[in-house]
Amino acid sequence: MQVTVYNCREFDEKDLFLEYAKELGIELVLCADAPDLNNVLLCKGSRCADVITSKIDAELIQAFREQGIEYITTRTIGYDHIDLAAAKACGIKVGNAPYGPHGVADYTVMLILMSIRKMEAILNRTMIQDYTLAGLTGRELKDLTVGVIGTGRIGTAVISNLSGFRCRILAYDLFEKEEVKQYAEYVPLPQIWQEADVITLHTPLTEDNYHLIDESTIAQMKDGVVIINTARGALIDSDAFIEAIENGKIGAAGLDVVENEFGLYYYDHKSDILKNKELALLRSFPNVTVSHHMAFYTRNYVETVVKDSLMSCKCYMEGSENSWEIK
Ligand code: NAI
Repeated sequence: MQVTVYNCREFDEKDLFLEYAKELGIELVLCADAPDLNNVLLCKGSRCADVITSKIDAELIQAFREQGIEYITTRTIGYDHIDLAAAKACGIKVGNAPYGPHGVADYTVMLILMSIRKMEAILNRTMIQDYTLAGLTGRELKDLTVGVIGTGRIGTAVISNLSGFRCRILAYDLFEKEEVKQYAEYVPLPQIWQEADVITLHTPLTEDNYHLIDESTIAQMKDGVVIINTARGALIDSDAFIEAIENGKIGAAGLDVVENEFGLYYYDHKSDILKNKELALLRSFPNVTVSHHMAFYTRNYVETVVKDSLMSCKCYMEGSENSWEIK
């Protein structure tokens, strides 16, 4: 039973892969790079390939098939980087590895607290031994109304976390969930724009909600509103957002995702001239915390995706019930 693992990270995944593979009786071929037409030869002798978010297009899928791959598992929730139609056409099955919502939900609450307590500015000052207080007055969550947009797995976990802070919680989703109603009140979207002191986004990016936060929705919000985005960058129109930071309409923000982040995040660009002007501006504001799309990144996440991706390969190879397979 052999699995070829691509993009295997030395610093956090490799030891776990070796440990779990031993437990499960699987032999591994480990490759630090993304799969491509050159290194696809590493799949010879494996029935399963274990990948992350690099593009797995029809040509690569065909090459996988020629090496004997029957099953591709991705160590991610999303699988839009894999051409499912091409995989189906040549008889390759595909699986994913969903992980729990709590890492992102905890991170969201951290960004809310950092924003309302002006932590970005506080840390900037302590770095230069400026220990003054002026301008650093914070606010307490119990006095605020938080609007949660999207009450799926992560939004629901955020609401549950927030309930402990005794703030008022408003929620909006296309579908209402009973369990959310014990802590939050579902309201129409305009009411969130008008009444929330903090707005946090937890929907997927769709054609309908592209630039959900734009000039017109920002205009409806409270002065000094705090915006948190751990979902997808393009839910926010960066130009309108920057304008609103500059004129003070938006009081603070925590952004784990930004528009056009693809190709930037997870690489060392310190000597490069970057073309994302919006990111440069956002990073320059003392009331905006920017992180590089890592709200998910916890020990629990790494263990889950490594173990579950191997378990799903084992289930596939043994022909047993495989809950990770995308049907
Ligand atoms: P989910 O699928 O469990 O929940 C999404 C919710 O959004 C659903 O309840 C759905 O009805 C709702 N929704 C969809 N379109 C909507 C709209 N136009 N208006 C209002 N509600 C709408 O998804 P999950 O797992 O909670 O993920 C939420 C977001 O978090 C996604 O954008 C995902 O990509 C992002 N994410 C970010 C991570 C990070 O590290 N920053 C890691 C994992 C997910």
